[in-house]
This record gives sequence, structure tokens and C-alpha cells, in this order.
Amino acid sequence: METQSITIRRPDDWHLHLRDGEMLKAVAPYTARQFARAIIMPNLTPPVTTVAAAVAYRERIQAAAGAHFTPLMTRYLTDQASADELERGHANGAWVAAKLYPAGATTNSASGVIDVRNIYPSLERMQAIGMPLLVHGEVTDPEIDIFDREAVFIDRVLTGLVRDFPGLKIVLEHITTTDAAQFVAGAPATVAATITPQHLHLNRNALFAGGLRPHAYCLPVLKREAHRLAVRAAAVSGSPKFFLGTDSAPHLREAKESGCGCAGIFNAPYALESYLTVFEQEGELDRFEAFASEHGANFYGLPLNEGRIALERAEVEVAEWLPAAGSKLAPFHAGERLRWQLAS
Ligand code: DOR
Ligand code: ZN
Repeated sequence: METQSITIRRPDDWHLHLRDGEMLKAVAPYTARQFARAIIMPNLTPPVTTVAAAVAYRERIQAAAGAHFTPLMTRYLTDQASADELERGHANGAWVAAKLYPAGATTNSASGVIDVRNIYPSLERMQAIGMPLLVHGEVTDPEIDIFDREAVFIDRVLTGLVRDFPGLKIVLEHITTTDAAQFVAGAPATVAATITPQHLHLNRNALFAGGLRPHAYCLPVLKREAHRLAVRAAAVSGSPKFFLGTDSAPHLREAKESGCGCAGIFNAPYALESYLTVFEQEGELDRFEAFASEHGANFYGLPLNEGRIALERAEVEVAEWLPAAGSKLAPFHAGERLRWQLAS
């Protein structure tokens, strides 16, 4: 008999873009109805680099998401990042982690880090105070093929970071390759990874299915099928190193369907249903709760959530568009049918 419902500890999203202003108000409720907490990425313009900016942004998120949702803020690392400011914000609860964007790697990363050597003093401090480093793991060298940027980052940058900072907790965000899955699995317990729904469901053919598909474009870009299968195997493996992080990254229709379209997939509306579908397809429903609700909190050293949520068997048609900020957003799985639904 097919499983008809599943009840799990309330999950968390360990990688989320909520934006600001009208967009924030439109997208935050989708996350808050599923997740107790989320790691909020700091790539606004200007980026979140100060305690004051993080605290003010958290208040705007709280107003948009409601009181039962807890935003976990992050600090955007720059070459000039002050180790004292990092420590101060960590000590007073303004942020829980810091994000490394290689300069130019993705949306609003222009102020990112040019050379990791520049942030070694910050990393020393983070290691000392137990503050995790979250990594967008792609090199930006234009000579490197875009499909190889994650693997080359592991060789050129990440291997050295893990060696030089054996006590630093590092999350390799949104992994997309066999190389990343193997590296994380074989690394010390200080190294973990988040996995998005799109990298579990899609390979790079989705970018060109019958024409150019801007809504399937995100960074790191989708990879070939063998990589998708390796990432899926990691997600359902039961290893505590792999956990849920949607990387939901809304861009309005005009910004996606453009001569130079933005990277990002808005997967928040059906995130849990999307992940659960993968665990069901892989015959690993029993491992879903740990991936969604336990591994991330344990890695960050935060308590597990006490509440429970249920997902029920139901045929759900995903909308083509959802209204936002005077325009609309295409949700991940737009126009498809999902076979699970979050119980209200
Ligand atoms: O596709 C992406 N969109 N990847 C990122 O790393 C950033 C994100 C965004 O902020 O739009
Ligand atoms: Zn992201």
C-alpha cells in the first residue's frame, strides 16, 4: 500500500533568499507555513555586512513572516570584513553564520570576496567562536567552464580551507556535482552541505527543453544526469552531512524572461512536497525527517523544533504564476502535478 500521510518534526530551511520590501512580503509566508526557521542569505543591495543592517532586516522579515517563524541571519563576507564586528554580531545574536560569495559568482555578489586569503583573519575568529562559514562554492575565473566551476572551487579553494581551518564548521551550499557529494562525504565532520529541490529533480537538459528555459536557470547551474543522481544519492543516504536548503531565489517574471535573465528558482511554495517526492521515488521515506528536520539543526548546534507537520497524499496542480510585488513569479514545478500536500 502506498503511504498516505507522513508526520515529521517541523523542518528548517538552511538556505533561503527572501529579498526585501514588497517581494519579501509576497514570498515570506510561503516559507513560514512550512518551516520553523530559515538561514537568510545576505545578498541584498547593499549586502548585509553590519550588525545594525542584520537586526533591521530581521525585523522586516519577522513582520512579513509572522511571529512563529525564526529568521536566522547571516553576515555577508567582504575582503574588508572586520573580525571584531563578526564576533560582536555572533555574540549578541544578530547573526548565526557568515556567507562567502566569491566576487561576481552570482546575484548581488559584486562586493564578495576576491581572494579567500583576505578573509583568513575572519575565518580564524569564526573558528574560535564556533561560527559556521557558508560557502557559495564556485570559482569565478572566466576561463573555467561554467559547468566545472564547483569542482574547480573544491580543488582550488575548499580543500585548502578545510586543511587550514580544521575546527571551522563549513557548509558547502547547494551542491550540484558528484565531486561535491564525494568531497563532503569524505571530509571531516566539520564539513556539510545543503541540497536544493531543483538539483534533485532536474539535469541541465531542463535548460533547453524545447527552447531556452529561463525559469530553470539558477547558480550553480544544473549539471548533467550523472551529477544529479549523485546528489540524490547523497540526499537520501541518511548521512548527517547533507540537509535541506532550498536556495529559493525569487526574481520577477520580467527579470527572468529577459535578454540577460537572473539566476534563481523560486521553489518556496511547494518545497517540502518537492523534496518528499524525491525521497518517495528513491524508496527512502523513512529518511526524509532527518534530512528536513534534524541534520541541519544538529550541524549548527541548534535545538530541534518541537512542533510537527503532516504531509498527505493528494493530487495538487502547481500554479503557473503567483502574484508578487506588482508582477508575478513562476514557482518551481509550475504547471506540474505533485502527489503530496502539506496538511493545513
Ligand atoms: O540561482 C541563484 N540565485 N543562485 C545564487 O547563488 C543566488 C540566487 C539569488 O540570490 O538570486
Ligand atoms: Zn543562494
